[in-house]
Amino acid sequence: MDWKYALSEPDLGEPEIAAVVDCVTSGWLSMGPRARAFEAAFAKMHGVKHAFAVANGTAALHIALAALGVGARPGDEVIQPSMTFVAGANMTRVVGAKPVFADIVSLIEPTIDPADLERRITANTRAIIVMHYGGYACRMEQIAAIAAAHSIPVIEDACHAPGQNVPELGGRFLGSIGDIGCFSFFSNKNMTCGEGGMVVTDDDGLAEMIKALRSHGMTTLSWDRHQGRATTYDVTVSGFNYRLDDLRAALGSAQLAKLPGLNAKRRALAVAYADEFAALGAPDTAYVFGDDAGAGTAHVGAVIVPAAKRDAVRAGLAKQRIQTSLHYPPVHHFTAFRDAAGAAPTALPVSEEYAQRVITLPLYPALPLEAVPEIVGAIAQGLRG
Ligand SMILES: Cc1ncc(COP(=O)(O)O)c(C=O)c1O
Repeated sequence: MDWKYALSEPDLGEPEIAAVVDCVTSGWLSMGPRARAFEAAFAKMHGVKHAFAVANGTAALHIALAALGVGARPGDEVIQPSMTFVAGANMTRVVGAKPVFADIVSLIEPTIDPADLERRITANTRAIIVMHYGGYACRMEQIAAIAAAHSIPVIEDACHAPGQNVPELGGRFLGSIGDIGCFSFFSNKNMTCGEGGMVVTDDDGLAEMIKALRSHGMTTLSWDRHQGRATTYDVTVSGFNYRLDDLRAALGSAQLAKLPGLNAKRRALAVAYADEFAALGAPDTAYVFGDDAGAGTAHVGAVIVPAAKRDAVRAGLAKQRIQTSLHYPPVHHFTAFRDAAGAAPTALPVSEEYAQRVITLPLYPALPLEAVPEIVGAIAQGLRG
């Protein structure tokens, strides 16, 4: 499709090309010095002790759950939002646990509702996964207090939220607040290396386990042996091959250096969207996180409109070659997560209404600011029609 405004576009240029060429020229492509440098720079930016580069965000979540021992006991449960990408729920299943879905706070704050989360805690709850939707912070203070009171570890799905510090949380970065933080560098993310991810933690014990699980449970990497730092290896735990190669790590480092600037451009666009929608004043229509548009990474530009008009508005935008999407179809409604009788496992009224009313709009650093009134104008036209 020849979009006038696509949903998202990566920001790639000379630094990325130079980084990849340099890696190829070096003759070492698999995990090695560039992955280490990427991890060190990522850890430094996010104020964490340990960062491990992995193959993708799903692998990051899988490793996080496995490192915490989730699924070791029959009946283990993981509380998480349904209004998110399916990776967390899938990985919960893959480690042998049951996803327990909690609702979101509101239609303009679609992150996990701490009160609903707390109601769903049982003796089987082994972890909580929170997701910083659009790169806007979940209610972490309340969530951390609930988790601490019940001694349940928190995994932050920070796939939308690289490089976002939160002044209200003492300037800490999203992903660094819970026990383990997970990031994705898929090509639509705020920083990308094609496919890639990062697992971060401040806990030395978890770090050791994450590192081992990433590479078959082996005690050394090929790079260590190539460097002469080791000649053999032991296997201490059964793990995966979720390593990130140096080619992608080189790309990742180039993107990381640009991340603050890329996030700033996204924030400016989110603020412009929020202002346009506020000025429009259309009934039952609001820009998501509109009161706080500049306080997140603006990974997703979402608006809620009346459910009855949503599909027509999207069709009108598509006619004007403006791409839209839906973040997200709720996970608890997917066939794989329904019960044997085909019913959703629980009712989540706010998530369900959100899913019927949300439209995701174009938002990426190179989107011109002038596109925002044009896109909002096209939505206004659709709402009138
Ligand atoms: C919220 C969220 N969690 C997890 C993932 C999974 O990341 P990946 O596609 O890198 O496996 C994504 C991205 O696709 C995501 O948006």
